[in-house]
Amino acid sequence: MSDNGKVNTGHNIEDKELIRNARKPEGELGHQILDRMNQSHESMAQWGVSHFKVCPDSKILDIGCGGGRNIERFAAQISENGRVVGIDYSDVSVEKSIDLNRKAVDDGIVNVLQGSVSEMPFYDETFDIATCFETVYFWPDFINDLKEVNRVLKKDGFIFICNEAVYREGQMDKYDDLVELLDMKIYSEDVLKESLESAGFKDFKSYIDDENDWICVIAHKA
Ligand SMILES: C[S@@+](CC[C@H](N)C(=O)[O-])C[C@H]1O[C@@H](n2cnc3c(N)ncnc32)[C@H](O)[C@@H]1O
Repeated sequence: MSDNGKVNTGHNIEDKELIRNARKPEGELGHQILDRMNQSHESMAQWGVSHFKVCPDSKILDIGCGGGRNIERFAAQISENGRVVGIDYSDVSVEKSIDLNRKAVDDGIVNVLQGSVSEMPFYDETFDIATCFETVYFWPDFINDLKEVNRVLKKDGFIFICNEAVYREGQMDKYDDLVELLDMKIYSEDVLKESLESAGFKDFKSYIDDENDWICVIAHKA
């Protein structure tokens, strides 16, 4: 948080250009922001993943995989019968995720592809779990994109969304600069629930860390 009570978007134009890359990392600043996010999102990600279980043979899709830290985490939890696939529309994110997970990629446990959540190159009912850390803010067509995630999940599969910002009526001023800089949408718990249900999910569960404003939700394919 900066002195004016707003979320810090940087004090000068160079910082702003760096942070702008969180939406779609590109070039050298893209590399830098991905290194930073692999570290700065770690506590939230650890909190988030404590709410579900990965099995040794889980097939996991990490959407908007960024620098690949969550791919690395899941790859360490599966056997040779499991798989982790990362997808991101940024070529820099794909490159970073592959670099970080080089051995698992070479071993055939991990695969990382460039592509948009709106149209993913996977067969129907491929994955047990689809994870979305800090990425849904940027999806262009939220409900249809969730339908696309639903399509690639197996019948008993689930989606996991984890965000470090949650919409609360009357308390959003602190995000104004960030929302403008990144052209992002910060969702409330209710909107996440309604959107997931419209997209064909059921059994919605949410967890909120009030101290940090973190939210994570899980919903199963209906
Ligand atoms: C803020 S970063 C989060 C990266 C990583 N998940 C993490 O938690 O550190 C958002 C990532 O989502 C990706 N992304 C945003 N919109 C996307 C879309 N429509 N399809 C695929 N990837 C997207 C961006 O390229 C970026 O790598």
